[in-house]
Amino acid sequence: MSLNIGIIGLGFMGKMHFNTYAKIKGAKVTAIADVDVRKRSGDWSGIVGNIGAAGGRQNLRGIHVYENAADLLKDPAVDIVDITLPTYLHARWAIRALKSGHHVICEKPMALKSAEAVAMIAAARAARRKLFIAQCIRFWPAYAKARELVRSKKLGKVVSAVFTRVSPRPTWSWQRFLEDPRKSGACALDLHIHDADFVLYMLGQPRSVLSRAVKNKNGGLDHITTFYNYAPGTLIQAEGAWEYNAGFPFSMTFRIALEKATLIFDAQGLQLCPAKGQAKPVAVAEGDGYFHELKHFLDCIRRNCASPVVPPESALRSVQLIEAEVKSARSGKIVRFK
Ligand SMILES: NC(=O)c1ccc[n+]([C@@H]2O[C@H](COP(=O)([O-])OP(=O)(O)OC[C@H]3O[C@@H](n4cnc5c(N)ncnc54)[C@H](O)[C@@H]3O)[C@@H](O)[C@H]2O)c1
Repeated sequence: MSLNIGIIGLGFMGKMHFNTYAKIKGAKVTAIADVDVRKRSGDWSGIVGNIGAAGGRQNLRGIHVYENAADLLKDPAVDIVDITLPTYLHARWAIRALKSGHHVICEKPMALKSAEAVAMIAAARAARRKLFIAQCIRFWPAYAKARELVRSKKLGKVVSAVFTRVSPRPTWSWQRFLEDPRKSGACALDLHIHDADFVLYMLGQPRSVLSRAVKNKNGGLDHITTFYNYAPGTLIQAEGAWEYNAGFPFSMTFRIALEKATLIFDAQGLQLCPAKGQAKPVAVAEGDGYFHELKHFLDCIRRNCASPVVPPESALRSVQLIEAEVKSARSGKIVRFK
């Protein structure tokens, strides 16, 4: 039996999810909703982002197409609602979709504010529906493998780690919402959360954070570097930036130094540098994080179980972590967790 999905918001991520569901057996996009008439007509040539090619002409025959997301929620051909809307709309539409009896997959960051994320979790509990937050880096094969190696302790303890995610300025978004910190949370919440979330997923809650940042003229943080305080003697940091000019290539990298080996990830893939000899490639799963996360969420719905990889409470903690980082960057002080 196929799982019927309705996607709300057909932009960069909506297109990515649409194309990804086409690769997942038993997944069927039955409806889409977008306020943009061009996208509803199947002209997806204007859909771009910081990875992948621009869209083209999309055949939407057989798919129910809505201007108003509320109409998609009334469509009996939709079991699961996938929210790929601008961040400031996540909580509002996730809660409406849960209340109307749908399971919800929602893009990261879970919400603009942690209080909204708390309300989303409460709505899922009250409706007895599942809520999945698309923290795709937890599923990205090289990151998932690195976490597995770290957690296995085979290579000893983590001594230091550096994560980077750097991008040109995101100029593609609907009504330029990404560039408005009140709608996207700026680079700190939108882009850097991928690595903050992964640090939490790999190492657990730090004792405190210390951040430094570059502000844009709207007051949003366009470039942030955070030190996560774990055991004394370890150095864990992550840098997210989207202040660079158009020609700058997007990249995501990490280096994790363990007692017995160093893991590195960059455009060449995941490699392990042993105590002696050359770096060697580490085999990872095929495909990208979007495929693995969406397949996992659909498997959870089929098996009627919660996600062990992304319980929504853990995505809430990532939003709270970013709030602490932003507080630290703005005050110049260390922010401690209780
Ligand atoms: N996981 C990732 O790697 C990743 C990458 C990029 C973006 N994102 C997240 O995905 C979300 C969307 O970002 P994006 O880059 O796709 O943005 P986008 O601007 O490309 O797409 C947003 C879409 O929502 C539509 N829309 C706006 N208001 C609407 C409404 N009320 N009803 C229906 N449609 C509406 C717009 O027309 C647009 O098509 C953000 O929260 C962002 O943080 C995640």
